[in-house]
Amino acid sequence: MPGLLSPFLQGKIFNISIADEERYFKLTFMNQYIKFYGFSLAAISALVILVVTFGNKFEQMMTVSPVVPGVNLAYGKFMAESCIRCHGEDYGGGNSNITQSRLPAQNLTPDIKTGLGNWSEADFLRTIRTGRRPDGTKLKPQMNWKRISDSMTDMDLKAIWLYLRSLPPKSYDPKKYEKEIQIPIN
Ligand code: HEC
Repeated sequence: MPGLLSPFLQGKIFNISIADEERYFKLTFMNQYIKFYGFSLAAISALVILVVTFGNKFEQMMTVSPVVPGVNLAYGKFMAESCIRCHGEDYGGGNSNITQSRLPAQNLTPDIKTGLGNWSEADFLRTIRTGRRPDGTKLKPQMNWKRISDSMTDMDLKAIWLYLRSLPPKSYDPKKYEKEIQIPIN
């Protein structure tokens, strides 16, 4: 019976005026409003912060940075990759295992004792262009300087030199590679 309890409720529990009721609803509404938008605002701010901090990284991940030809490290690294198969993964020396001769290919890192530490850029270019080291000795044919020289501009070689100079010096023991020599060609 709906009418039975209402006088009691109106009088005791819900003894509030219409104005109170309106205020109450307004307040609850405001509360919800603040909660909802407050939360959205926090979420949006968090998103903005995320985008600002990681957006750049994400963009870098998505775009492969182009190697720009010039005397710069990135281009030097790119061009020097062709030397790895003989001079070693870290340019610290290896052997020319493309022929059966397996001649040790020297250390190209800036190590003073066993690498190119005492060479200048001019020494390096002259060696590749003429096949003669600064001390006048000739490069053996396994180091195909002619082919390298013909296919590279001075800029290419200078970039390679710049890159080689940036490498950590490695110490090199040609004996380690001499052991692998099987049939000397000259
Ligand atoms: C096919 C193998 C091979 C490749 C590829 C190669 N080299 Fe060599 N390189 C050699 C060998 C072998 C020697 C040693 C020659 C000798 O003993 O006379 C040598 C010697 C050198 C030397 C003289 C080092 C010294 O201390 O006397 C330089 C400089 C050099 N290479 C630079 C390069 C560069 C730069 C590249 C890449 C652009 C390159 N080489 C690619 C095999 C190679």
